[in-house]
Amino acid sequence: MLNDKTVVLGVSGSIAVYKAADLASKLTQAGAKVNVIMTESATRLVAPLTFHSLTDRPVVTSMWQAREAGIGHITLADTADIVVIAPATANTIARLAAGIADDMLTATVLATRAPVIIAPAMHTNMFRNQITQDNLARLRARGFTIVGPARGRLASGATGEGRLVEIGEIIDAIEKTLQKSADLSGKRIVVTAGGTQEPIDPARHIGNRSSGKMGFALAEAARDRGAEVTLITAPSHLPEPGGVAVVRVTTAAEMKAAVAKAVKQADALIMAAAVADYQPKSRAQAKIKKQSPEMTLELVRTPDILSEVTGSFIKVGFAAESEDLVANAQKKLKQKGLDLIVANDITEPESGFGADTNKVTMIDKEGNAESLPLMSKREVAERILDKVAGMGENPP
Ligand code: PMT
Repeated sequence: MLNDKTVVLGVSGSIAVYKAADLASKLTQAGAKVNVIMTESATRLVAPLTFHSLTDRPVVTSMWQAREAGIGHITLADTADIVVIAPATANTIARLAAGIADDMLTATVLATRAPVIIAPAMHTNMFRNQITQDNLARLRARGFTIVGPARGRLASGATGEGRLVEIGEIIDAIEKTLQKSADLSGKRIVVTAGGTQEPIDPARHIGNRSSGKMGFALAEAARDRGAEVTLITAPSHLPEPGGVAVVRVTTAAEMKAAVAKAVKQADALIMAAAVADYQPKSRAQAKIKKQSPEMTLELVRTPDILSEVTGSFIKVGFAAESEDLVANAQKKLKQKGLDLIVANDITEPESGFGADTNKVTMIDKEGNAESLPLMSKREVAERILDKVAGMGENPP
């Protein structure tokens, strides 16, 4: 797994830095090209020459030194198959979570498309501090893998959570992540996101509260696992994910046409979009004036995209439910001919429309149900893609 892989090993200034030398050595022995980047504090604890001797490659200690050595400020980001930060101090984690890029390590992490693993090491109180916990949650939600920390004796002499995990555990995480980062390689995945808008007149529409976050998280996660992704999105304020073909639509009818076109070559369609079920029978050409105290708007059904789309690809739907979650989702799974349905409990706080987190139950066509705890939408996306990748081995 590690042979010929390019690993960026980021080393920050924790006393556990000496263990990173062992990690660099083991990765090198396994055939990886290990490019070490040290923060300024790390260089005070272990000399860069140690890593240079173990990896037989230049060690970067600042952007300016890198430039003098002919290494551009994003070269290491571009060439990495994986970035591992071990040990990661509370300070480095905070700077990464804030998107700071004022040294070679943080700039590399901000610029890379490669998966990132973080192995924290710090005093228990720093780790338990809500600020550090929030920073880690933020990074996790962006798709970073956090390994550890472990419990044990700390540099202060106290015992508690905060020790760097064993090097074997970090290597396991690297191998698993590398495996996952390629498990959708060569697959074409179409994802829908956001809430469609059905115009009433030039000023108004029927819409819903979908932000697009769930669909965008799916598109980003699929891209990071090697898939070629088309994201068909109804209006959303989220920034377009890089490396994904984005198709913008407004109405259910437009989404249907875009889906029909995109699935021609697809291996899977995942519909996280909240598609309007009804649209105004006709669209007024001019803004409707207020007249009588009551007015009636005549609505007709929109096309049911999932039910009507055909082809030999894996079909995944969502079901936003406020009651009888599993039973209603199962009904939709059958009605729409799906391979998997993600039942979305929209009564839970922090779940469903607009939230950064989600609580779902995944149900397959054999009736197997798996309920997941509340987790970030990115983590939910990864779990859905685990299922899709598994089905890809035995396509429908
Ligand atoms: O965008 P976020 O703010 O992150 O919120 C995420 C979400 C709550 C919108 C998402 O997780 C979700 O649950 N999406 C599906 C919402 C929904 O409209 O469910 P539904 O039960 O009405 O539809 C069932 C399935 O059929 C869905 O996959 C839907 O995309 C699809 N559908 C629905 C109607 C229609 N006319 N055509 C369809 O294809």
